[in-house]
Amino acid sequence: MAVAVLQTADGRAKTALSREYAAKWQAARAAGETIEIGTACPPDFPARPDKPELLNPRDVPHRKPGSTAGQIALLHAVAHIELNAVDLHWDIIARFSDTKLPLGFYDDWVKSADEESKHFNLMCDCLEDMGSFYGALPAHAGMWRAAEDTAHDLMGRLAVVPMVLEARGLDVTPGMIDVFKRAKLSGAVAALEVIYAEEVHHVAYGSKWFHFLCGRHDLDPTGVFHDLVRKYFHGGLKPPFNEEKRAEAGIPPDFYWPLANEHSKAGARKS
Ligand SMILES: [Fe+2]
Ligand SMILES: [Fe+2]
Repeated sequence: MAVAVLQTADGRAKTALSREYAAKWQAARAAGETIEIGTACPPDFPARPDKPELLNPRDVPHRKPGSTAGQIALLHAVAHIELNAVDLHWDIIARFSDTKLPLGFYDDWVKSADEESKHFNLMCDCLEDMGSFYGALPAHAGMWRAAEDTAHDLMGRLAVVPMVLEARGLDVTPGMIDVFKRAKLSGAVAALEVIYAEEVHHVAYGSKWFHFLCGRHDLDPTGVFHDLVRKYFHGGLKPPFNEEKRAEAGIPPDFYWPLANEHSKAGARKS
């Protein structure tokens, strides 16, 4: 099921299949059925539609958020992130099936994939209400980088994807909601508030399973987190952090502040 979603190119078709399979999984779990996880070979890159054109982030035109064009660009960028997140969550399910994990691991990522599918559809609806659509603008080409870098390291994947990238979403979404509040676009505000509320869980699932694996291998979570982020994440962690939501999601300050300080020192040394 995970691989079928990854192999579907069209965004709306991908998310429809994702939601259908999530409902199937959840119904089977609710009925107490025995589910075999099985093994699968996920593609190196998920199938994607012909549009949007994928560009180096430097070449993606920057528009002012105060303008309609800027608001469309912002929603388009979020739609792109959500579609990538659908693939990331199904990928973690398929890619690490050789690691024995409790069924709860799969419950969490199936639920996350289902929510990302809903988020993508919400963003597409908002774009269409504003006379645009997903694919109308170019998008960020580097989104699958974190998946490639951590394709052989489950703990690295958990550290970088939910605990760094999705946690970053918690930092920036309130500011985005304000942009749409100021523009009096209540549909976009409501959609982003759904996303903001649900993303906390994805970060929390990351933290939960990261700590689970640290416990299994008798590792110190904070030190291992720092090592994995240094190894696999190239962007640096940038404040301001949403410390309250991060705490709610099980990411304490000593996980991210040392990495942020380190990066700003390295930046100062270079300049
Ligand atoms: Fe999302
Ligand atoms: Fe998410």
